[in-house]
Amino acid sequence: MKKKLPVVCILLLLITNVNAQTKIDSLLTENRKDPVGLDVLQPQFSWQLINSKRDILQTAYQIIVSNGNNKVWQSGKVLSDSSVHVTYKGPALQSGTKYTWRVRVWDNSGKHSPWSANAFFYTALLNPTEWKAKWIAPGYAEDTVMRPSPVFRKEFTTNKKIKSAIAYITAHGMYEAIINGKRMGNAYLTPGWTSYNHRLQYQMYDVTNILNEGKNAIGVTLGNGWYRGIIGFSNNINYYGKDIALLVQMDITYTDGSKQQVITDDSWKSTDKGPIRYAEIYNGETYDARNEMQGWTMPGFDDKEWSGVKILNAPMKVLIATYNEPVTTHEIIKPVKIFTTPKGEKVIDFGQNLVGWVVMKAKGNKGDTITLSHAEVLDKEGNMYYDNLRNAKAQDNYIMSGEEETYHPHFTWHGFRYCCVKGDDDLKSEDFEAVALYSDMEPTGTFSTSNALINQLQHNIQWGQRGNFLDVPTDCPQRDERLGWTGDAQAFSRTATFNFNVNDFFSKWLKDMAADQVNGVMPFVIPNVLGFAISSAGWADAATIIPWNMYLAYGDKRSLSQQYESMKNYVESIRRVARDNLWNTGFHFGDWLFYRPFDDNDGRSAVTDKYLIAQCFYAHSTQLLINAANVLGNKKDANEYTALLQKIKDAFNKEYVTPNGRLVSGTQTAYVLALNFDMLPDSMRKQAAERLVENIKSYDMHLTTGFLGTPYLCHVLTRFGYTAIAYKLLLQKTYPSWLYPVTMGATTIWERWDGEKPDSTFETPSMNSFNHYAYGAIGDWMYRKIAGLDTYEDGVGYKHIKIMPHVDTSISQTEASLKTYYGTASSGWKINDNDIMMDVIVPCNTTATVYIPAQDANNITESGSALKENIKVSGNEDGYVIVNIGSGEYHFISKGAVQKIIALNRKNNSDK
Ligand code: BGC
Repeated sequence: MKKKLPVVCILLLLITNVNAQTKIDSLLTENRKDPVGLDVLQPQFSWQLINSKRDILQTAYQIIVSNGNNKVWQSGKVLSDSSVHVTYKGPALQSGTKYTWRVRVWDNSGKHSPWSANAFFYTALLNPTEWKAKWIAPGYAEDTVMRPSPVFRKEFTTNKKIKSAIAYITAHGMYEAIINGKRMGNAYLTPGWTSYNHRLQYQMYDVTNILNEGKNAIGVTLGNGWYRGIIGFSNNINYYGKDIALLVQMDITYTDGSKQQVITDDSWKSTDKGPIRYAEIYNGETYDARNEMQGWTMPGFDDKEWSGVKILNAPMKVLIATYNEPVTTHEIIKPVKIFTTPKGEKVIDFGQNLVGWVVMKAKGNKGDTITLSHAEVLDKEGNMYYDNLRNAKAQDNYIMSGEEETYHPHFTWHGFRYCCVKGDDDLKSEDFEAVALYSDMEPTGTFSTSNALINQLQHNIQWGQRGNFLDVPTDCPQRDERLGWTGDAQAFSRTATFNFNVNDFFSKWLKDMAADQVNGVMPFVIPNVLGFAISSAGWADAATIIPWNMYLAYGDKRSLSQQYESMKNYVESIRRVARDNLWNTGFHFGDWLFYRPFDDNDGRSAVTDKYLIAQCFYAHSTQLLINAANVLGNKKDANEYTALLQKIKDAFNKEYVTPNGRLVSGTQTAYVLALNFDMLPDSMRKQAAERLVENIKSYDMHLTTGFLGTPYLCHVLTRFGYTAIAYKLLLQKTYPSWLYPVTMGATTIWERWDGEKPDSTFETPSMNSFNHYAYGAIGDWMYRKIAGLDTYEDGVGYKHIKIMPHVDTSISQTEASLKTYYGTASSGWKINDNDIMMDVIVPCNTTATVYIPAQDANNITESGSALKENIKVSGNEDGYVIVNIGSGEYHFISKGAVQKIIALNRKNNSDK
């Protein structure tokens, strides 16, 4: 028989075993904090180790998942350093259930952390047969021209004490649901946009505390939304169907274990007499406050005059739980200025081009209308400029009830900085605010330098992302387009991963991409509302580029494997049409919006052969497929596509490269793509890079690239030793350049390098958005090369961090930080006379390889001591001393390094 230990001994043991230092924080389920409504059968968990000591690594973990007091799964002590994307391996999860989980870890000191606080997640409906609700549509005959927003209601009674109540809601169109006077959730534009014919998301709400014991009511308003509203080009309507419909299922469990269901069925009522008389995404909303129906979402409202509903036989098998963050409101921006234009109109300037809507407090005569019109810019004369909105009216009309009310639209959004108000002669600044609306992604990155213009560029990149990450990655938010253009999304995707956490955002969109692929061919826009599918090089390659970028940034193998088939189908679809391994057929957008001056005689337009571009992307996609096959352990595919890749490159060299190494298109984009995707044999790369630099110089240190060349331009320059040239391009203030729009007062990224000309006239109105993120792709280079914050492929998702700044004396200081799943990583440098100071933060359970710009390791100190005293130097390379470090904060000073940098950057003949 075992002897019992005295209590003091047990306490002592507990104290010594619990490492007071390492703590666990930031628990995520499927990359989100406490998500409500997951239909993933085996969710993945992530957590962070918190410890300010250096070199902390996890050696083991233990997870407990519970449902109330029942332990559902205990992982036991698992020897592993994984703290990110750890898969649930317990018994099958039940639908509509709240699970809690906690974790503790052992670190490399051998001690275990205390248990974390509980995190939770709710499962959604895991089995489609659990849907009992029926699709309902309005019971009245619709006015087919105006199509006012239908409203639905239903009263129901609960008769016992409620233990839990869960509501699942979705719509054909957009919905806003209210129970007992309380709005469901804080999301807008629900159920979001997916490829509705294949995948329609529903949202899940915990309504336990909203239901009354006794009488209850639910009311729902619908808008046309993407489902049947105007979307795509040429005023298309009804892309997914003519119907507008609602689906609600509420599962109530009483404390005695009995259950009740409230579902949409033929007992619901509907009317078209609600206040939203018109709502279209592009055109805006008309709201008649005289039609407001007091108490319609409360029990006891008189709906005798309302119509019944029609039961609709719409598909249920397309229903899926919501995976990504919902669209919610964010920044609230007050008017900067209210002024009267030369035309005599009253205009509010919010000082920032943003996406969302205006919230207005208004009071006026019953029946009078206030009209809000939105624009991004003012024209040369200072009047509202609407031409670039094309057919989008972007106008909200508010018909007053005679009472003071606060108004904002529901089923639309606008891209604007200026708002013209008609019908209110006495505009007061305090009655208006602009609210930014976008997917609720966690802000993760910061980047700043000693240069104010670059900082404004970074601001513009982040605002471009805010405005265009509205459930799907859109090209632009203001004109009659707002579509998920694949090319724009792939170009910006890596930059996007720095500014915000876009893992679930893209994960959802990539599934729509796979759903809308036709025999591997990737349509221009996802969800595809164009009605045809053509693979255009650099657009369609979103199929391979984005999954790979997400894998690098977030390290989730499961996501990569989910996209693998789509990636492979895409490459195969090119292989099918390629002739002698050349992709030289079909329509391509080419290097969209490249530099094209009016130059009848000297041919300065930077036109790149579209098939040369196509061949480069064919190779790149094949390379990424090989990478994915290797990660997923698919040797057969890796071998097969490696052989194909060689043929693709050989065909490229035969077709597009002269024996001396000149490309048939002598443009920056041609050289950039050929170099970035390793199209040329090793022996030809150096001179190709020289030709690229010559070309840049021939344009007087300006870029000439379009959507496809721009993302890689500076990367290629730094890779081949032309850091100083890359900086010159970045700091260039005249057109075409990143800073030209900044000098023109831009607050977002423009679609064109010269959207507004120096004389304040505009580029062609049919294609001139002032909020288009594609050229913001330079952000990736700023984070990864200026600040030098990157991840290695042998430790993706910043498990093995690469810190390799590229210093240039044209700026004196940089700082970048990134919230990774492991914690915040950061890298910053500062020129101090002839020394370079470098501050680095490495999160727990990661390691970093740091490249310190230095003459020699002996010239470096770390936190006041000689580097070599505490840190092992692992090598020397191109003006850097390389060290491998563990978690912690580090402060390096590299004495006399500035001269070395100047010399290195000059070596490559940077000065004209
Ligand atoms: C969009 C682009 C898109 C392009 C295709 C435009 O209408 O706004 O950003 O990539 O069409 O070339």
